[in-house]
Amino acid sequence: MPSRTEELAERARKVLVGGVNSPVRAKVKPYPLVVAYGKGSRVWDHDGNSYIDFILGYGPLVLGHANKTVAEAVSQVLEEGWLFGATTRHEILLAEKILGHVRPGGKIRFVNSGTEATMTAIRLARGYTNRKYIVKFEGCYHGAHDSVLVKAGSAAADTGAPVSPGVPEEAARLTLVARYNDPYSVEEVFRRHGDNIAAVIVEPVLGNYGVIPGSREFLATLRKLTREYGSLLIFDEVITGFRLSLGGAQEYYGIRADLVTLGKIIGGGFPIGAIVGDSDIMSNLAPEGKVFNAGTFNGHPASMAAGLATISVLEKGGLEKIHANSRLLCDILKEACSRAKVSCTVNCAPGMAQFFPHATNVERPEDIPPKAPSTYYKIHEDLLRRGVLIPPSQMEALFVSTEHSRDEIGILDVLAELVGGTG
Ligand SMILES: Cc1ncc(COP(=O)(O)O)c(C=O)c1O
Repeated sequence: MPSRTEELAERARKVLVGGVNSPVRAKVKPYPLVVAYGKGSRVWDHDGNSYIDFILGYGPLVLGHANKTVAEAVSQVLEEGWLFGATTRHEILLAEKILGHVRPGGKIRFVNSGTEATMTAIRLARGYTNRKYIVKFEGCYHGAHDSVLVKAGSAAADTGAPVSPGVPEEAARLTLVARYNDPYSVEEVFRRHGDNIAAVIVEPVLGNYGVIPGSREFLATLRKLTREYGSLLIFDEVITGFRLSLGGAQEYYGIRADLVTLGKIIGGGFPIGAIVGDSDIMSNLAPEGKVFNAGTFNGHPASMAAGLATISVLEKGGLEKIHANSRLLCDILKEACSRAKVSCTVNCAPGMAQFFPHATNVERPEDIPPKAPSTYYKIHEDLLRRGVLIPPSQMEALFVSTEHSRDEIGILDVLAELVGGTG
């Protein structure tokens, strides 16, 4: 007899493409997890099995599942009505809060996802500079829109090629692709195309190719080149915002970007995205300027209230707790890897970590050994059977919340055995 979860997964497969609404979820086997509920650091399936969750909704749930402070803030919105097609105080409060940390004196536009944030930031950069090209880095993910669903094309041209059918080559050609943590590759791109580059977009800590922290030298080179050539520097902080520090990667690295895109944490687990920048650039967005952006759900009160509640907890010691937990996570993974029979390395940044089986040092995406993803996947499967949920892909990051206990994080010590066992 199939379990209740299996039965629901089968029904999902009949009506949802791949049984899911975002591809990575389908990687969990033998069938995508159908979650019944979550509380704190754990989620439960429909058969009463619980899992310690290191995915946390792919990053937003830094206070864990069903956090009471967030739930109460959203409940109040539900009593007052939740959509007006007009500004609410929640938008003002969250805008003031975010700008206070990320860009005092600047402005923000709220949208509904990280994808919309990067799409709008790129349009704004093109409108502001009146240039066409953008530069992205191999391995960085900036959401699911045409300008960024692009990989390196022929090395000589450094113009991008589509990663998905449906992305026109003509669109991909406007995205130049350089190598992450390789300042020379960006210098080369600027030498060839500098006067036509509207913006460089980068994940300051690469969180979509495992975890690979950007080197200070690399990020400083981006800052220098963009200034020199009159292009904008966009820090895509959808993952790093309010995680590396309250001021995000800009504060952590001491580098000021022209535009910052945010998402995930700032909505406390509700749909959100945002673009932040100095007023002179942001004022080019409609209605102050001509660069178009609009959205029925932009600034949705539930997302605003959830984000405000989340950031308020982070300010009052929550972020320190997360950093303490992620240091512990990092130490445990490193210790386990050091005892494993095959080589394995761990990369960490505040609030996030990832391990790479068979690797000795991962400073760039190309350092990940070709066999790492399959070994990683087997470990994910093994941990799932033990009631531990890590991302089903080497290319994602492990996250911890304020709610994870030492013992729950300590369970990952089993990695020593699992890495060796699958080598
Ligand atoms: C760095 C980065 N930018 C943009 C996005 C897209 O955000 P969303 O999934 O909310 O559209 C993601 C999603 O994981 C991301 O990690």
